[in-house]
Amino acid sequence: MRTQVGIVGAGPAGLMLSHLLHLHGIESVVLECRSREYVEQRVRAGVLEQGSVDLLRRAGLADRLDRAGMRHEGIELRFDGESHRVPLTELTGRAITVYGQQEVVKDLIAARLAAGGEILFNVDDVRLDGLDSDSPVIRFRRDGREEELHCDFVAGCDGFHGVSRAAVPDGLLTTYERTYPFAWLGILAAAPPAVDELIYANHERGFALYSLRSPEISRLYLQVAPDEDIAAWPDERIWAELRARLETVPGWSLNEGPILEKGITPMRSFVVEPMQWERLYLAGDAVHIVPPTGAKGMNLALADVALLGDAFAAWYGEGRTDLLENYSRTALRRVWRAQHFSWWMTSMLHRLDGQDAYEAKLQSSTLRYVATSRAYATSLAENYVGLPEV
Ligand code: FAD
Ligand code: DHB
Repeated sequence: MRTQVGIVGAGPAGLMLSHLLHLHGIESVVLECRSREYVEQRVRAGVLEQGSVDLLRRAGLADRLDRAGMRHEGIELRFDGESHRVPLTELTGRAITVYGQQEVVKDLIAARLAAGGEILFNVDDVRLDGLDSDSPVIRFRRDGREEELHCDFVAGCDGFHGVSRAAVPDGLLTTYERTYPFAWLGILAAAPPAVDELIYANHERGFALYSLRSPEISRLYLQVAPDEDIAAWPDERIWAELRARLETVPGWSLNEGPILEKGITPMRSFVVEPMQWERLYLAGDAVHIVPPTGAKGMNLALADVALLGDAFAAWYGEGRTDLLENYSRTALRRVWRAQHFSWWMTSMLHRLDGQDAYEAKLQSSTLRYVATSRAYATSLAENYVGLPEV
């Protein structure tokens, strides 16, 4: 098999890149180790920055997004028994849209297949070869048979646990990393959200987040221990903990309902530089991870491949190499802004085991500063909705 760009991974990064290349008349094949059902059902992020929405719209992918996506013009910060709204749109002129990652993935898969695009699901044992030549080869197994995909370039969009990053020879990449002594327990519940806007809560029992997916479905998160066992969290315990952390303002209560899905997500900050080696271009979670508090993961993945799409278009269309050469440097500017913002939001909102009273006072003071200073709130808001140019 031969194509122009071989793409490993059918998450938001890989699928979006394949779609953007198609719009530029460039062929690609996407290789995915999971099934179509699995990637379409995987519950993950839910917040699209304005820039991501604009990108999806420009790429002709916003029909369902425009009908089902929920535009939010503010978020709420809840701490010390008070609630404060950060008016995102008033401060920045921009907004966020709540639309589940798996819906973005469904829209992308549908668009690729409708255009005759090739996505090979359920492939095994993906190996990258010849990345330092003009004709890399991706070897893999499908239905028990060995196959080869020959291409001009490889895009490694296979997430944190993928194989692409590891294909770069030792010693050429620099890793920057931070782990956190907590994780998030996330649930999807058949309960009408008791909120119009997301609530980020700092509580002495730990962080909680109230989000949503539709007028009937709520999405909520709790800070838990990093090694927490989901079996220790029967539904009643989850609701009791959510009530304790979120029902802190008079007259407000959350809506409960059957829990449809629950899982634990570890927290990590991680960047590998550069995001390219020879003919391998890395994008999304394959090269950078942020803790989810800033809602940046999926947005960064889309921003990376928007750059890559343009860079490949310039190479194939005009023989230009500059955009490909600058891809890593350009992408890393946005990546590091999101790294800082995500770390900052995480530090401000979570409780650490053994956190001393001094740190708790600093968190309160920081939150109060955001709540009362237009300048500081604007800084949070412009990062949250996404900076157009970094
Ligand atoms: P992915 O979506 O991870 O896609 C990579 C794809 O590559 C996957 O489909 C995978 O199956 C495939 N793959 C992996 N290895 C191979 C291989 N060897 N061969 C072929 N295919 C392979 N962000 C938020 O903002 N909020 C959240 O609440 C949130 N929750 C998350 C929960 C979890 C469990 C995880 C893992 C991430 C979460 N994120 C969240 C982050 C966000 O979902 C990611 O940033 C986003 O999915 C990145 O997209 P991607 O396309 O780079 O990677
Ligand atoms: C959601 C996830 C996030 O990480 C976040 O910061 C806000 C919302 C969500 O899944 O809805």
